[in-house]
Amino acid sequence: MKHLLSIESLSADGIHQILALAAEMKQTRGRHASHPLRHQCWAMIFSKSSTRTRVSFEVGIRELGGDVMFLSASEIQLGRGEPIKDTARVMGRMLHGAVIRTFAQDDVDQFAHYSGIPTINALTDAEHPCQILADLQTITERLGSLENKVVTFVGDGACNVPISWIWAAEHLGFELRIAAPKPFQPAPELMARMRSRKIHVTDDLLAAADGAHVLYTDVWVSMGKEDEAAYRIAQLGNYQINSPLVAAARPEALVMHCLPAYRGKEISNETFEAHADTIFTQAENRLHAQKAVLSLLATPA
Ligand code: CP
Ligand code: NVA
Repeated sequence: MKHLLSIESLSADGIHQILALAAEMKQTRGRHASHPLRHQCWAMIFSKSSTRTRVSFEVGIRELGGDVMFLSASEIQLGRGEPIKDTARVMGRMLHGAVIRTFAQDDVDQFAHYSGIPTINALTDAEHPCQILADLQTITERLGSLENKVVTFVGDGACNVPISWIWAAEHLGFELRIAAPKPFQPAPELMARMRSRKIHVTDDLLAAADGAHVLYTDVWVSMGKEDEAAYRIAQLGNYQINSPLVAAARPEALVMHCLPAYRGKEISNETFEAHADTIFTQAENRLHAQKAVLSLLATPA
């Protein structure tokens, strides 16, 4: 693996390799046998806010022996219009890797191409691969595996997180149901590319939750969509994970949220707190899953 640009670009074997190493990273935290980022310096270039991603990468890079610098995109020349491909060519001559959070997927792809250094997508409008890897790790820990499992995503089904879920289901073969009102369903062009017959899109929330092993949600107003907040809240108003919805899923169903959470919007406070242990384990697993990715990128096969 040279970069982590998306879940789309991974294979089932690649995902399993990351998850196996992520489990090992978690087990051996604080006493790793090797430090593959030793003598390396990585940059984190962020155009959007972050708590989990920023902290987990900064901690993870250091725990693997590396050094890390955080660069707010608005404070470097990129923010004044220097092209991404020039930024990438400069950084490629100085750094050993980059973690990028931005809007356009093309910017991350271009950075990877022009810099020549390992590049990680830390969230774009198109995908959030690091999140879904941590979520897959969490589900594997709690349910044993993804095999024959039903994951139901509730809410804005067209944003980065559900799109990464769609690619994960395509690669791994589990059943994925996206419950979203029509304007927030994944694009038909994307769905037409899926070979899996186990990825379903519906506006019938209760039917989507019926017998699910996992109920998953994300914010209704993604970063960059703040201007649409009122419209989104009105359209998505019924698509909340709450007690009646949880009752439709399997009795042992996991409730998951990538965070940050807006209680009373995509999830009720009661349901959030009842499932906080799973939700904050997802957040913790960002560290372990990303250390696995960093380690694989630093020492390619
Ligand atoms: N889930 C997630 O990526 O959180 P942050 O935006 O805080 O990094
Ligand atoms: N869909 C959300 C994910 C936040 C982690 C966003 O893009 O803001």
